[in-house]
Amino acid sequence: MAAADANNEPLLVVEDYEVGFRTERGLARAVDKVSFELDRGETLGIVGESGSGKSVLNRGIMGLVSSNRMIEDGSVLFDGGQMVNRNRQEFWGAKIGMIFQDPMTSLNPVMKIGKQIFEPLRQHLGLDKGEAETRAIELLTQVGIPEPARRIKQYPHELSGGMRQRVMIAIALAAEPEMLIADEPTTALDVTVQKYILDLLRQLQLDRGMAMTLITHDLGVARGRTDNVMVMYGGRVMEHAPTDTIFAEMRHPYTEALLASVPSLKHAKHTRLTPIPGAPPDIVNPPPGCRFSPRCKYAQPKCTEQAPELNEGEHRYACFYPVGTDASAEALEKNMAQGHTATGLKIGLAPAKAAG
Ligand SMILES: Nc1ncnc2c1ncn2[C@@H]1O[C@H](COP(=O)(O)OP(=O)(O)O)[C@@H](O)[C@H]1O
Ligand code: SF4
Ligand SMILES: [Mg+2]
Repeated sequence: MAAADANNEPLLVVEDYEVGFRTERGLARAVDKVSFELDRGETLGIVGESGSGKSVLNRGIMGLVSSNRMIEDGSVLFDGGQMVNRNRQEFWGAKIGMIFQDPMTSLNPVMKIGKQIFEPLRQHLGLDKGEAETRAIELLTQVGIPEPARRIKQYPHELSGGMRQRVMIAIALAAEPEMLIADEPTTALDVTVQKYILDLLRQLQLDRGMAMTLITHDLGVARGRTDNVMVMYGGRVMEHAPTDTIFAEMRHPYTEALLASVPSLKHAKHTRLTPIPGAPPDIVNPPPGCRFSPRCKYAQPKCTEQAPELNEGEHRYACFYPVGTDASAEALEKNMAQGHTATGLKIGLAPAKAAG
């Protein structure tokens, strides 16, 4: 288990964190005043449609956004130390490990797998060649790679996608980081391999008492594999709660819509999916009021005038008419009766969907 158990302070404290990109049209606010905490050993699912700011948030925290048009503001404390606006290279691999969607972009195609695992071991842990090799074989065994002694002599292209992703995980874990960032780690893999890798990650995370952010556009991926879920939309946090609460008592209409729009890993073929109407917001000129209002079936005039604030507490959400309350039931009824929402989104009982 992590030696850090004695320390009850959260591992990561993010406050009003912002990442913007200067564009010809103005500032693109990819991450807009995001605040959250990550406890030691916690797994946080970060969920949202493509473009909602999940990757920029995590890459930004790590100092990995390489753009001279980028502006960063706010505060990110890792283990009590400020990360914003400083070089964060010392954290890479050593304190925070990272795995990405496509292992081929992170693996060196012309270097044998063994060497790619030895390097961080020798660098961060000061192991000699023999020790590093033994440890590399151990790591590959832990991530479920058969015949590890043979594999370390191979090149990335000689492995399947799933095996490459396991190698990435082994590399990310080599220096025993306190936190792992897994950015859509299985999006490029087929469903069976996907499930294996996700379950493996969860197991390794639990065994090591390591904190993890699991980034995914698929809410189903977070189910059963995370402690908490944070839902992002247009660079903002819409909802953040314990995972069970998110699935059983979601409050934000975007979370509800997201859940209805993605197939679950379990019932891939039999669930009727309801796509979210419209498109994610323009982050240079977001819609006035609530960012989700143009696509929200509950939207009322107030939603177009004022931006709802996130409430405090264990279950955070930013919405004037939270799902499951009388207020939202009335709002929906009103919109159904008039056939559209306050933003003009047409709604009603479309014949084909009446039963769903
Ligand atoms: N280097 C960059 N320059 C300008 N805009 C960027 C850059 N990187 C990302 N963005 C924009 O930031 C927004 C958030 O992107 P991203 O974090 O990758 O979304 P997600 O990971 O949730 O799919 C998107 O609108 C994207 O176009
Ligand atoms: S009900 Fe209003 S505040 Fe809540 S998500 Fe919909 S538009 Fe936003
Ligand atoms: Mg992304």
